[in-house]
Amino acid sequence: MRVAILASGSGSNAAALMNHFSNTEGIDVVLVGSNRSSSGVLEKANQAGVASLHFSREELDSGELLKKLETLKVDWVLLAGFLLKIPKEFCRAFENKILNIHPSLLPKFGGEGMYGMNVHRAVFEAEEKESGMTIHYVNERYDEGAIVFQGRIDVSELKSAEEIASEVLKLEHEYYPRVAREVILDSERNIK
Ligand code: GAR
Repeated sequence: MRVAILASGSGSNAAALMNHFSNTEGIDVVLVGSNRSSSGVLEKANQAGVASLHFSREELDSGELLKKLETLKVDWVLLAGFLLKIPKEFCRAFENKILNIHPSLLPKFGGEGMYGMNVHRAVFEAEEKESGMTIHYVNERYDEGAIVFQGRIDVSELKSAEEIASEVLKLEHEYYPRVAREVILDSERNIK
């Protein structure tokens, strides 16, 4: 299966995915794309010897990026801290073939504007006892696709949003690669 990773931030999840899949038979990361040219993820892709691409919001919205992925025969798209909305056409072309990771226990703390530290601050301010991460399919509405996996942690003793962020990120690195691998390889088994 040919996989593209899209990310907007530092790319630590993308790096965890590339690292894991470099030893996974049956999964090849063929492209890492980012809408931010300064995103650390492009450098991480270069270091891993994976093709990288900077694209604009217009290229995403107009279908240019979709065309590129189709030319590269991409089967699966993994969002790893990607902050732009995936357009309808794109969702349709990759129906049930896009996964996202979100740093909360959805449906709590999801929706537009809820990303990165905004999520952890909201969790901290709401004095939640637990938080975690959600891996879910992507559809046309933010954070509403079917949930594949949730990892939970006790945050009742944590003293700041930053501490929550750091613990949740560890959970993301631990589970996203393994869960994505199972989902992708399972989909291949079902086709055969
Ligand atoms: C991760 O915590 C991911 O869950 C979150 O962005 C961070 C990216 O970190 N995604 C969202 O908030 C999506 N709504 P990274 O660049 O170090 O992988």
